[in-house]
Amino acid sequence: MPKCIIDGREAEFTPGQNLVEVAKKVGIQIPFFCYHPALTVVAQCRMCVVEIEKMPKLQTACSTPAAEGMVVKTRSEKVIQAQKATMEFLLINHPLDCPVCDKSGECDLQDFSFKYGDAYSRYTEEKRTYVDLDMGPVIKKNMNRCIHCTRCIRFGTEVAGIHEMVAVQRGNNTEITTIDGRPLETDYAGNYADLCPTGSLLLKDFRFKKRVWFLKRTSTVCEGCARGCNMTIHQDNNVIYRCTARENLEINKYWLCDEGRFNFHYVNAEDRVVEPRSGASAAEWADAIAVAKSAVSGKKLAVLVGSDLTQEEGKLLLEFLPKNFSGAPVFHFGTPGIRSSQEDAAADRILKRKSKTANLHGLEKLGFKGFDSLPAGTSAVLVIRGGRATLPELKGVTTVGLGVFRDSEAQGFAAVLPGASFAEKDGTIVNFEGREQHLRRAINPPGQSKQLPEILMMWANSKGGQNA
Ligand code: SF4
Ligand code: SF4
Ligand code: FES
Repeated sequence: MPKCIIDGREAEFTPGQNLVEVAKKVGIQIPFFCYHPALTVVAQCRMCVVEIEKMPKLQTACSTPAAEGMVVKTRSEKVIQAQKATMEFLLINHPLDCPVCDKSGECDLQDFSFKYGDAYSRYTEEKRTYVDLDMGPVIKKNMNRCIHCTRCIRFGTEVAGIHEMVAVQRGNNTEITTIDGRPLETDYAGNYADLCPTGSLLLKDFRFKKRVWFLKRTSTVCEGCARGCNMTIHQDNNVIYRCTARENLEINKYWLCDEGRFNFHYVNAEDRVVEPRSGASAAEWADAIAVAKSAVSGKKLAVLVGSDLTQEEGKLLLEFLPKNFSGAPVFHFGTPGIRSSQEDAAADRILKRKSKTANLHGLEKLGFKGFDSLPAGTSAVLVIRGGRATLPELKGVTTVGLGVFRDSEAQGFAAVLPGASFAEKDGTIVNFEGREQHLRRAINPPGQSKQLPEILMMWANSKGGQNA
């Protein structure tokens, strides 16, 4: 492998790698704003300048590929002065509103200003200000904070496939906006907030809800479709505040779709059933299980298993169901119109899949068959799900729900045994390519909700009611 020297450290690189990436490999941070590894390089912000031996001027590290024998300095006097000048320039119009800005605590501009900027500014003129246009339901724009790095414009055109962000005017008056001020159209708008290095583009859903330094992070996987994008859940005090994309170059690169990003809201929904129920009333666990058992006892039972359950839960059910409901047909369900992995396909040309649950492919591997309609004569149904699978219409049958349900979904159920959502358990899911990934528990199940193994154990040990 070719080698270069950065700040006296020998660094190996693959041909074509730029100096920002090569420096990162040997633990040296070169600050940058406009560079993003998944977007074209524009070298606009000048924050990443470095000194290279035998080159008379400073060079931008993001646009300079490493070369054999190159000697690079990232902290020379010339570089330090240039970084200070760049920070001073970028901040001339930036408001001093970090205390009320939701990017605060995870803002590149704030961090680099502290680390590479100067404590003083010579700027005494009026700061430029903008009236902000609404950008639709996902993003709140604050153009006063923008440093014109154009990451957002490039993300729209190069990743989301929609040229909706543009820079209008020029020079001091440059403004990033949508064409004609229209609301954002992409289904991937949340990524604008992830990749904006300042507080100019923020998630409306998260704004003013929580300072980021209070949030605890859990690395997990999105359950929104069969792709299994890698994400981070941010929670405090058992409440999820947001989900952000986690890099996985083989699955989702750096992105999440909005459906997956905001899917978590049902987890903390006020109308989620979190106490056991007998009919419409709250009940003790033992009583609710007894009612559930009686409701399915002596009936012609079918069992519907959500393809939002994990492999471990699926395997457990393969043992539990034949022992407790001998002969009852078992089907998986999750997305209307998608009964098998063959019917799952790309839903767009970016990430989304047609199967709107995370583990269709895994449950099929375990041998579960897809649900089409209830076998003739079925008089009772046991529905077991994680919370994401779409309930089929169940009319004229006694229904018992085990897992995560909203109040409106559980209307008419004989009993509800509240379970854990994807954010409240550990387990394995299998994506459309057959990759096994792990859900990690970020919060505890709310109220009296329990993990599936515990509910099944209580059912098996319960003396109330009769097994079918
Ligand atoms: S809005 Fe954010 S991402 Fe877009 S140009 Fe401004 S600072 Fe960069
Ligand atoms: S594409 Fe699927 S897995 Fe990825 S974020 Fe969207 S819903 Fe989640
Ligand atoms: S990151 Fe290199 S010029 Fe902006």
